[in-house]
Amino acid sequence: MKSLQRVYWICLVLVSALSVVLWYSHATRLDVTMMANVGLRGYVRITPGKMDQFLDVHFKECALVSSSGQMLKAGKGKEIDKLDCVIRMNNAPTVGYEHDVGNKTSLRVVSHTSVPLILKNETYYFQQSVGTVYVVWGPERNMRQDGKGHIFNILLKAAKKYPHAKIYVVTRKKIQYCDGLFLNETGKNRMQSGAFLSTGFFTMVLAMDMCDRIQVYGMISDDYCSQANHTAVPYHYYEKGRMDECRMYRVHEKARRGGHRFITEKAIYGRWALHKKLQFNHPSWTDRENVS
Ligand SMILES: *[C@@H]1O[C@H](CO)[C@@H](O)[C@H](O)[C@H]1NC(C)=O
Ligand SMILES: *[C@@H]1O[C@H](CO)[C@@H](O)[C@H](O)[C@H]1NC(C)=O
Ligand SMILES: *[C@@H]1O[C@H](CO)[C@@H](O)[C@H](O)[C@H]1NC(C)=O
Ligand SMILES: *[C@@H]1O[C@H](CO)[C@@H](O)[C@H](O)[C@H]1NC(C)=O
Repeated sequence: MKSLQRVYWICLVLVSALSVVLWYSHATRLDVTMMANVGLRGYVRITPGKMDQFLDVHFKECALVSSSGQMLKAGKGKEIDKLDCVIRMNNAPTVGYEHDVGNKTSLRVVSHTSVPLILKNETYYFQQSVGTVYVVWGPERNMRQDGKGHIFNILLKAAKKYPHAKIYVVTRKKIQYCDGLFLNETGKNRMQSGAFLSTGFFTMVLAMDMCDRIQVYGMISDDYCSQANHTAVPYHYYEKGRMDECRMYRVHEKARRGGHRFITEKAIYGRWALHKKLQFNHPSWTDRENVS
C-alpha cells in the first residue's frame, strides 16, 4: 500500500515538473518572437526621456563600405548604390568620391572619437542626410546615461535639436557581447591584451544582425600585408598623405596598449566568411571563399 502511494506521488511530481518545463519553453518562445518584433535589442535610439526604441531594420543585401584607401580608384560606386542598404563608417565622405564609393548612405557606424567630427558638420549629417541612421559605439565612461557621459550628452543634445535625426547607441550589453566574441575567437581578453575593438568590428557585427547577405568593399584579408607584392594605399581613402594602411595595421597590431587589432579582426572575418553570408570585394578574398 505504502509503495503504491509512493508511486502515485512520484508520478504527480513528474507530471507537474513536465508541465512547468512545457510552460517555460512556451513562454520563452513567446518572448523570442516578441523580441523579434521590437527590433535589435543591442541598439537603442537616443531620445529625450525614456530610451526604449530599438533599431528595427532588416535588409536582404547590404554593402559594407570600408574607409580604407583600397577604395581609391575602386570604381564601385554604381554597384554599391544598387544594394538595399549601404553601411559606412564614421565621417567617411561620399561627396567627391561617388564614382569609387557610391553616394547612398543608409547607415553609419560611428566611433565615440568621431562624434566631434560629425558634430562639426551637423547640418550636413543630421539635417541634409536625414534618411541616414547613426549608430554610435563607445566605452561606458563616455556613453553613460547618468549625465556624466560626455559623448552621450553631446548626442542627446543633437537628438533634441534634430528630432528627425535617427541616432542610436550600441548598448553596454552589446559591447560586452562583442568583447565575448573577441575572446571566443582569439582566446584573448580584449581589455587585458590592451586592445580596443575597431569601428569595423562593431560594423561587421551590426551588419550580421541586420542583413541576410553582406558585400564588403575595400577590406583587406589578414595576410594581405604580408604578401611581398601588396600595394601601399592610404589608411583612409579621404586622408591622403597619412601613414599607409599596412604600416598603420602593423603599428596597431603590436601596440601594447590602446591598439586596434585590425589584422586579428580580419582573421576573424575570414573564419566567419566560411559559414556566414559575407563576401569580400576589392580586394576580393576569393581564395578563402573557395574553401567553403
Ligand atoms: C560637410 O560635409 C559635406 C559632405 O562631405 C561637405 O561637402 C561640406 O563641405 C562639409 N561642410 C563643412 C562646413 O565642413
Ligand atoms: C546618386 O547617383 C545617382 C546616379 O548614379 C543619381 O541618380 C542620384 O541622384 C544620386 N543621389 C544623390 C543623393 O546624390
Ligand atoms: C563564447 O563561448 C561560450 C562558450 O562556448 C558561449 O557560451 C558564449 O555564448 C560565447 N559568447 C559569444 C559572445 O559568442
Ligand atoms: C600578389 O601575388 C599573388 C600571388 O602571385 C597574387 O595572387 C596577388 O593577386 C598579387 N597581389 C597583388 C596586389 O598584386
